[in-house]
Amino acid sequence: MRIGVIGATGKAGQVILTELKERGFETLAIVRSPEKLANDVSFIQRDILAITKEDLAPLDVVISAFGAKLGEQAKHLQIVRHFQALLKDTNKRLIIVGSGGFLYLDNQREKKVYDKIRLVKKRSKISEQSYDLLKSSQGFEWTYMAPPIHFVPNGSRTGSYQTGTNVALYSQKGKSEISYQDYATALVDEIENRKYLNSIVTVSAR
Ligand SMILES: NC(=O)c1ccc[n+]([C@@H]2O[C@H](COP(=O)([O-])OP(=O)(O)OC[C@H]3O[C@@H](n4cnc5c(N)ncnc54)[C@H](OP(=O)(O)O)[C@@H]3O)[C@@H](O)[C@H]2O)c1
Repeated sequence: MRIGVIGATGKAGQVILTELKERGFETLAIVRSPEKLANDVSFIQRDILAITKEDLAPLDVVISAFGAKLGEQAKHLQIVRHFQALLKDTNKRLIIVGSGGFLYLDNQREKKVYDKIRLVKKRSKISEQSYDLLKSSQGFEWTYMAPPIHFVPNGSRTGSYQTGTNVALYSQKGKSEISYQDYATALVDEIENRKYLNSIVTVSAR
């Protein structure tokens, strides 16, 4: 299986690319700053909105680990529209490294994470809109993989995690968190297991 990683120079993209390579997948990094990549990585240089159908033709799965700068969050909507045009009727699979900001806080499903953490409300609402848009996709498989509330860079690999859909998950310590490394493991497991097709999935430490 050949897998493309957009944003492979970012915190999530880097660990996902490494995890894929370690597990024997053929990979293609699709990045705008290839000078940040290791020497042995196959890549093409593209702004995410300049990616073409031809770029994606050799791939079975496309992962977007794109992250927007503050003030550029609206790009998430443009990006979903762009993927919908590129992937329609290809039967390829798109996996988006998304936001956990619009998950429900608990199983009562009355309040969302952004109702509690007001600082993230504006950007999480845009991510929520992009997810709503993604749900209207046709002709390809998609998965929106939402991190928990705390997405921890430089955290350790435990190999242990739990998954759910649109309600934030909490560890036995009561924390909604996961390391980028465990998130990458869960994402590559999902590529293999195909459990959350055309769905949101969230993942957190146990
Ligand atoms: N708890 C949560 O819900 C939570 C917490 C953190 C992050 N996230 C989400 O996780 C995702 C990944 O986050 P991250 O921490 O890995 O972000 P990051 O480290 O900032 O990486 C962002 C990546 O996007 C790339 N990028 C930005 N603009 C681009 C463009 N126009 N064209 C192509 N590539 C572009 C960057 O490339 P350059 O290297 O060229 O800049 C970089 O590779 C984001 O969507 C973020 O919202 C969620």
